[in-house]
Amino acid sequence: MPGKLVVFEGVEGCGKSTQLKGLHAALQASDRLRQLQRQGVVPALLTTREPGGTELGLGLRQLLLGYQGTAPMASRAELLLYAADRAQHVEEVIKPALAQGCWVLCDRYIDSTVAYQGYGRGLDLALIDQLNAVATGGLVPDLTLWLKLDAATGLARTQQRGAADRMEQADLAFHQRVQRGFETLATQHPDRIVAIDAAAPVEAVAADIFAVVEGYLQQWYEPNLTA
Ligand code: TMP
Repeated sequence: MPGKLVVFEGVEGCGKSTQLKGLHAALQASDRLRQLQRQGVVPALLTTREPGGTELGLGLRQLLLGYQGTAPMASRAELLLYAADRAQHVEEVIKPALAQGCWVLCDRYIDSTVAYQGYGRGLDLALIDQLNAVATGGLVPDLTLWLKLDAATGLARTQQRGAADRMEQADLAFHQRVQRGFETLATQHPDRIVAIDAAAPVEAVAADIFAVVEGYLQQWYEPNLTA
C-alpha cells in the first residue's frame, strides 16, 4: 500500500487520543510532510478510531461501550463485535485512504483485540490472530505507538473524566492483564511497535512521539525528502 498506517495503542487513560490529535497538528505544520504533500506523495492525513470509525462502527461502539442488558455480554460476542467494526473500518476507510497514499492515524487497531479480548478476557490468542487477519485482510500497521503506562495510573486518570464505560468498569486485574498483553506484543513485534513513556508530562510525550515519527518519515520517504 502506498500510504502508511500509524496506530496508537495502550491501556485506559494512557493519553493516546490527546496525543493522536497533537501528532496530527504537528505533522500538518511539519515542513517535511508539507513537502511530501506538495509533491502529491502523501495527499492527506486522516485520523480515525476503533471502534467507531464508520457509521456502522458508531452503532457497534455504542453497543460495545454502553450495553446494559440484564445478561452480561459474552466475551466471544464482544470479540466478534470488535471484529465486525474493524472489517467495516478497513474496507470503508483505511484501505481506500492507504491506496491513495494517505497517512492514516488510527486510535486502536488489532493489538487492542489481542490485549483486551486475548489477555484481558482470556480468549484464545490463535483464534484472535485468525479473526484479525479476516477482519483486516492481513493489513498490519506500518508503525504502532504504544503509550506505555501502569494500568492503575491510567484507570485513576479515567475516573477523573466522569462516568466509566462498560470496558473501563472492568476490575483492575483485568486492566493489568491488558497491560501485560501490550508488553508481550511489544516484545513480539519490535519491528513495528515502539514504546513511548506515557507517564511523562503531556508535552514530553508529544515530543517523544514526534521524534519517532520524524525518524520514520525520513526512512520511508528518504529519496523524496531534502534535509
Ligand atoms: P477508547 O478507544 O475510547 O479507549 O475505547 C475503546 C474501548 O474498547 C477501550 O476500552 C478498549 C476497547 N477495545 C477492545 O476491547 N478491543 C478492541 O479490539 C478495541 C479496538 C477496543
